[in-house]
Amino acid sequence: MSTPDSPVAAVKAAGSPARQQWSGQFGFIISAIGSAVGLGNIWRFPGVAYENGGGAFLIPYLVALLTAGIPILFLDYAIGHRFRGGPPLALRRIKRWLESLGWFQVMICFFIGIYYAVILAWAASFFVFSFSQKWGDDTASFFLFDYLHLPDAPAGYSLQFVPGVLIPLVLIWVATIAVLVLGVAKGVERANVVFMPLLVVAFLILVIRAVTLPGAADGLTALFTPDFSKLGSADVWIAAYSQIFFSLSIAFGIMITYASYRRRKANQTTPGLVVAFANSSFEILAGIGVFSIIGFMAYQQGTTVDQLSGLKGVSLAFITFPKVVSEMPQSWLFGALFFASLLMAGFTSLISILQVILAGFQDKFGLSVRRSALWIGGVMGLVSTLLFATVQGLNVLDALDKWINEVGIVLSAIVMSVVVIWVSRKGGELSYHLSSLSTFKVKNLWLFLAGVLSPAMLTYMFIQVVISLIKQPYGGMPQWFLLIDGWGAIALAVVGALILTKLAWKRDPDNFEAWPVFQPSGK
Ligand code: ALA
Repeated sequence: MSTPDSPVAAVKAAGSPARQQWSGQFGFIISAIGSAVGLGNIWRFPGVAYENGGGAFLIPYLVALLTAGIPILFLDYAIGHRFRGGPPLALRRIKRWLESLGWFQVMICFFIGIYYAVILAWAASFFVFSFSQKWGDDTASFFLFDYLHLPDAPAGYSLQFVPGVLIPLVLIWVATIAVLVLGVAKGVERANVVFMPLLVVAFLILVIRAVTLPGAADGLTALFTPDFSKLGSADVWIAAYSQIFFSLSIAFGIMITYASYRRRKANQTTPGLVVAFANSSFEILAGIGVFSIIGFMAYQQGTTVDQLSGLKGVSLAFITFPKVVSEMPQSWLFGALFFASLLMAGFTSLISILQVILAGFQDKFGLSVRRSALWIGGVMGLVSTLLFATVQGLNVLDALDKWINEVGIVLSAIVMSVVVIWVSRKGGELSYHLSSLSTFKVKNLWLFLAGVLSPAMLTYMFIQVVISLIKQPYGGMPQWFLLIDGWGAIALAVVGALILTKLAWKRDPDNFEAWPVFQPSGK
C-alpha cells in the first residue's frame, strides 16, 4: 500500500501529475500569513475601526473573527486539502456543479488582483516621493490631480494614460509574474520568507516611533474609546464581517488553493489559529501605529482627532499620511517605512490572489506553471493597466472594491457553506478530515458556526447591503457608472464562471480518492 505522501498516492489522489507542494509546515504558515496580512490590515482596518465605534468595534470584530472568520478559514482549508485542488477542482470533487462556484471565486480574484496591483503601484511611487516629500503641502490636490490626474466626475472611458502610475504598475506586474513563474515553493514561499520578516521589522520600527510622538495617546484614545451606541447599527456588524473576510483571505479561493499545496498528512486547525491570530495582531498593531500618527497630526494642528477628516482607506494612506509625514522629525524615514510596509504586505497578498487563478487554469487546462504565470499575469497586467493607469482609475477602483467585497465575497461564502455542508452533506466528512489530521480537534461547534451561524449572519448582511446599494448611489457616483463598474463586475464574474465551467477538462478531475478514508457510520 502506498503511504499518503508517496508519489504514487499523490498522483492517484490528484488524478494528474503530482501537485506542487510547500517545503513544509513553516512555508505554508508564513505564506498564509503573508496572504492575510495585506492592504486590508494597513489601510483598511484602522479607518474602518475608527468609523465604526472605535474600541467598541473590537467587539463585532472579535465576534466576526470567532464565529465566521476562523470557521470559514477551516472550511477553506478542509476543502482545499481534502479535495486537493484550486477552487474549481476541489469544489467540483464535492459536487459537480459546484465547479462554477470555484470559477466565481477565481473571477473575484481576477477583479481584486487588477485593482490591488494599482494600490501597490501608488505605494511604490509614494515610497520614492517620501525621500523628497514631493507631495508638498496640499497632499489632497497632489494625490488626486497632480499624481492621478483624476477628472472631476466619472466620465466615459478615456485611454489617457498617467505615466506616474503606468510605470510602477508595469513593474509590479513584472515582479509578480517573476515570482509566480518560479512556482509555489521556489517563488511564492520564498517571496514570503524574504518579505514577511522585513515587513515585521519595518512596521515595528514605525509603530514604536509612532507611539512615542507627542499626541499619540490622544490618537489611541480616539481609536480605542468605545462608542457602544454604534453596536446597535447593522452597518457596524457588516463592516466587521467584511473586514474579517477580506483580511483573512477567506471565501474567495486563496485558502482553498494554499491548503491544496500541503502534504497529505498536515495539521490543519492549529496552523489556522496561528494564521488567524497573527493576522488580527498585525491589524491591531496597524491601528495603534496609524492612530498614534493621527494623534500627532491633531497635536501639530492644535485640534482634536474627531475634527480631522480623511481617516479612511485611500485618503488615509495617500493624503492624510503624507501630510503627517511632512510634519515629523526624520520624515523621509517615516514615509519610506510606511510605504515600504504597504508595498511588502500588499505584494505577498497579490501573489496569493494570482495563485488562485493560476491553480484554476493549471488544474483544468493542464497549463504549466510557467505558461500560466506568463499568460494570466500578462493578461491581467494588461487589463489592470488599461483600467487603472488611466485617468479614471480611482473611481473604477472604489466602486469595484465595494461590490466585489460586500457582494461578491459574501455571496461566495454563503453559497459555499450552504451547498458544501447542507446540500452536499459534506459537513461530517470535512469535520472528520480536520480533526483526524490536527492536534486541535473541531467538533459540532465548528459545524454549527460554519454551517448555520455564518451563513445566517452573512445572508442578513447581504440583504442589507444589496438594499442600501440599490437605494443610494454609492459614493454619490452616477447610477450608470455603478451599474457597469459594480453590478457589471458581479455579472461578469457569474458569466465568466459559467463559461469556464463549460470548457472541457484536460485530465479526468473525478479520478480521485479523498484521504484519509471517511466512513460516515464510524465517526
Ligand atoms: N488578505 C489580504 C488583505 O488584507 C487580501 O489585503
